[in-house]
Amino acid sequence: MPNYKIAVLSGDGIGPEVMIEARRVMAVIEKKFALTFSCTDANVGGIAIDVDGKALPEATIQICRDSDAILFGSVGGPKWETLPPNEQPERGALLPLRKHFGLFANLRPGICYPQLTHASPVRPDLVVGGFNMLCIRELTGGLYFGQPKYTREENGEPVAVDTMVYKRSEIERIAHVAFRAAQGRRKKVTSIDKANVLENSVLWRKTVIEIAKQYPDVALNHLYVDNAAMQLIKAPKDFDVMLAENLFGDILSDEMGAIAGSIGMLPSASLGNAKPGGLYFGLFEPGGGSAPDIAGKGIANPLAQILSVAMMLRYALGETAAADVIEAAVQKVIQAGLRTGDIWSEGTKKLSTAEMGAAVAEAI
Ligand code: IPM
Ligand code: MG
Repeated sequence: MPNYKIAVLSGDGIGPEVMIEARRVMAVIEKKFALTFSCTDANVGGIAIDVDGKALPEATIQICRDSDAILFGSVGGPKWETLPPNEQPERGALLPLRKHFGLFANLRPGICYPQLTHASPVRPDLVVGGFNMLCIRELTGGLYFGQPKYTREENGEPVAVDTMVYKRSEIERIAHVAFRAAQGRRKKVTSIDKANVLENSVLWRKTVIEIAKQYPDVALNHLYVDNAAMQLIKAPKDFDVMLAENLFGDILSDEMGAIAGSIGMLPSASLGNAKPGGLYFGLFEPGGGSAPDIAGKGIANPLAQILSVAMMLRYALGETAAADVIEAAVQKVIQAGLRTGDIWSEGTKKLSTAEMGAAVAEAI
């Protein structure tokens, strides 16, 4: 019977409370499938700053390294916003974790369930029946990590520099991820760039076109990032796989989350290179943030965290059947009219975080 070692990094804000529900679901999965989880909790983000003096303690990296996958909650909050930017939970923990483990591929499914189209701010006739897209974001390159990166005094005023750098090989590997994902879906890749302005984007587009030749069954089109921001709202159903570099993907995936209804529904997977056998080491986390405004109230939507467990089972552990069961259970509770506050509407039943977790566990 396989035993999977999971590093559990709950973090700050709503992280710990939605993680409890994810663990509840994992306990049910253990009973239903022939597998066990050995979970090790580790501090990350603001809690780690408070307890260990830094956002990403060495001990946490070690626990991650010794695990089969990282299950991540969320980090950050007002308490740590006055620290120097580099030491804050987001820049001090999440970005170094991605870089340290080479997690270059970020998969963010943007699913608007047919029963939840009312929660989308997009005009109802444009989302009727819901939609299902997948954002593939490059996660360890571009403006986030390019050197030089500094702020300094020049001629009597501060000057800030960030550098956008992409190597061809970095574009190739993320393009492969997108085309392979599209093959298992509606076979369409929309590549995002700003090739009318940026050198980076010219190389991006050229490279993606070349990689596309290896996937003749997949249709490829290109959108400038500004136009993409518009098309997401005007025609969300036209998207299947959306491929973007780091910053464009950051921005567009938030927009995607918003038009899908609630960011509290969206899981994500950050993956490195495939291991022999086709599985990945990865970090699995909800698409939303730590939501300090609702933390501790027991009203957060735990579905993104629960669906992140499903992505972990699928991509890191190869437990496809268990992943399917969790995703089906989430659909079942939605179908049954059970809702947390963020997706509630007249005629449906409003549940707390714990009640929603229990409902999914029950549905499994
Ligand atoms: C995300 C977040 C992070 C990012 C922040 C918290 C650094 O917005 O995962 O999308 O920009 O990548
Ligand atoms: Mg973001």
